[in-house]
Amino acid sequence: MPTQPSPSIGVFDSGIGGLSVLAALRELMPEKNYVYLADSGYAPYGERDTDYVLARSRICLQALLDKGCSMAVIACNTATAIAAKTLREENPLLPLVGIEPAIKPAAAHTRNGHVGVLATQGTLASEKFQALLAQIQLEHPGKQFHLHAPSGLALAIEQQDHTQIDALVIEACKALSDKACDTVVLGCTHYPLVLDKFAEALGSGVTLIDPARAVALQAQKLLPASLKNKTGQGSLNLNSTGDIKPLQSLLALL
Ligand code: DGL
Repeated sequence: MPTQPSPSIGVFDSGIGGLSVLAALRELMPEKNYVYLADSGYAPYGERDTDYVLARSRICLQALLDKGCSMAVIACNTATAIAAKTLREENPLLPLVGIEPAIKPAAAHTRNGHVGVLATQGTLASEKFQALLAQIQLEHPGKQFHLHAPSGLALAIEQQDHTQIDALVIEACKALSDKACDTVVLGCTHYPLVLDKFAEALGSGVTLIDPARAVALQAQKLLPASLKNKTGQGSLNLNSTGDIKPLQSLLALL
C-alpha cells in the first residue's frame, strides 16, 4: 500500500528568499513538518509580468499540494501581491498565508514620518500593494512613504553575488537616507538574508521592519486540524527547480 505523505506546511518563494520566512515559521512551530520549494530555476519574479508570476505561483503551489501539504505559505511578496487572490479562489479550502510589505507597523513606528519601502517592481506596482498603501496613507495622514525597487538585488542575492549585493544595498540605502527615512520596510523576502548589510548601510538610527514573524503567527492561527496536534520533532524537506546548493548552504541561517 502506498504510504501517505505526512501532513506538512508548504512554503514557496521564487528562490532562496523564503528561507527568511521559513526560519520564523520553524522558530515558532519547530514541531511541524515543512516542505520548502525554491523556484530558483525561474527566479527572479520581481521584474516579470503578472502572467508569468501567476503561472509560476500556480505550479509551485500544486507541487506543494502533490507533496502532501495541507496548508501553504507564499513566502514571496511579489507572488502574494500578484497571485494570492487567484490561488485562494482556485483553492477555497486550503489555508493559504501570504506576505506583504509591513507598511502598517512601519507607519506606527516612524518618529519623523518618513518610511522607506524596499520591494520588487512587481510588488510596488501591484494593485494589492497600491490599495494597501492608499489605506495606510488615509490612516496616517502626513506620513510619507518612499518606495524604492532596487533593480537586480533579489537576483544578486539569489546568485550570492556579494560584490553586486554590496553595491545595490548601498545604492538603495542612499536613496532612502536622502529622504531621511527613520524606518525601512524590507518588502522582499530575499532582503532579510542580507539584513546586516542593510543595517550597516542605513546606520543605527534606522529601524528595519521584516514581517516574517507576523506571517508565522498568522500561519499558526490558520493551522488545519491535520497539523494542529502534531508534536515531537518536525522535519524539513528542501526542493528547488534550480540549483539546490545555495538553499542547502543557507540552511545554517535556520
Ligand atoms: N522574494 C521575493 C519577494 O518577496 C521575490 C524576489 C524576486 O524573485 O524578484 O518579493
